[in-house]
Amino acid sequence: EKIVLAYSGGLDTSVILKWLKETYDAEIIAFTADIGQRDELDGLEAKALATGASKVYIDDLRDEFASDFIYPMFQSGALYEGQYLLGTSIARPLIAKRMVEIARAEGATAIAHGATGKGNDQVRFELAAAALAPELKVIAPWRSEQFRQEFPGRAEMIAYAEKHKIPVQASAAKPYSMDRNLLHISFESGMLEDPWFDSSAESNEGMYVLSVSPENAPDQAEYLELGFEQGNCVSLNGESMNPLQVMDKLNELGGKHGIGRVDMVENRFVGMKSRGVYETPGGTILFAAHRKMESLTMDRDVMHLRDSLISKYSTLVYNGFWFAPERLALQALVTESQRNVTGTVRVKLYKGNIIAAGVKSPVSLYNPDIATMEADPSQAYDQGDATGFIHLNALRLKVSSGVEQNARK
Ligand code: ARG
Ligand code: SIN
Repeated sequence: EKIVLAYSGGLDTSVILKWLKETYDAEIIAFTADIGQRDELDGLEAKALATGASKVYIDDLRDEFASDFIYPMFQSGALYEGQYLLGTSIARPLIAKRMVEIARAEGATAIAHGATGKGNDQVRFELAAAALAPELKVIAPWRSEQFRQEFPGRAEMIAYAEKHKIPVQASAAKPYSMDRNLLHISFESGMLEDPWFDSSAESNEGMYVLSVSPENAPDQAEYLELGFEQGNCVSLNGESMNPLQVMDKLNELGGKHGIGRVDMVENRFVGMKSRGVYETPGGTILFAAHRKMESLTMDRDVMHLRDSLISKYSTLVYNGFWFAPERLALQALVTESQRNVTGTVRVKLYKGNIIAAGVKSPVSLYNPDIATMEADPSQAYDQGDATGFIHLNALRLKVSSGVEQNARK
């Protein structure tokens, strides 16, 4: 039997690799998706082999992540519970997709992951896998009674690693969990479980990786021009870039100017509230600039219709329904809504802020001749028309208010 394991090289998935191999008497194929986690990938292949993997895949999926996952999601304006840009949520379906491809190519019968039984990630992995490869079995060791009895805590895992000569980093374990990719870093658990813990305190500065605090950002503001084509950012400061390059550059600039930190308590799909801190420097700039581009170029009713679906779309992504038919149907509407979202947005980055500094478009719907308070040369709008417009809209308000007044007499 062959099992493909989503492997990160950390303590958990290292122990899981060995445990799966022993428990299932199977060949373990370790798979790591490079989705922008940087130095976490160093030495990974050797480590997986030393831990007992029969084969290792480390696949660079960064381009696909940016082009086919991050970009379409940003077209939708997705934002979970008004704050979370879905950095982890959007990565899981891609990891699952590649995992399923490897399982098929290798003739594996199962895929395995190290997500816990209390989180969102297990749901995302498994719903994606179900949508793409219903025939594959999924093994989630953290949900196995036997596994949890063997490893009630970190100490038992470290002992197991030592016993089996599993190379795990001796570096002091961080008192919180991190998940990094091209779009964000998330921080959860440990001291963050107390919602009164101040993640913005000077004494907590050491936790952050992608950004400086607004207080430590440069005193000098920096201008940035983002070029959009059909809702996708295709250039920065006039230089054409692919989605991966855009994300890298925006992360650098946002991080430098203290942009994109979020601290929130969110509602997990599995029912509990959970406290998370996020660094999403580039995504935060992209999100703001995209909305500015839309403001000039998007039809009002198309915008309001799309906006009415943002919460739906965000929840689908958060809950792991990326490959579900309703997300694909929504995406078709979202993509169509972006047809005209083309032009240039200029922003000023300054101490955690993204300040509007101009917007222009060859297909702008904004017409100063119509909007102006000065005499209208286009004659497109007759102020006298507004009288009837208001009268008809006021009609039912007058009727109901009259009825209420009579009732009070
Ligand atoms: N709470 C966020 C989400 O559900 C982040 C999850 C982080 N996952 C992790 N394995 N550290 O999307
Ligand atoms: C986990 O439980 O594996 C991480 C957190 C989450 O998935 O929400």
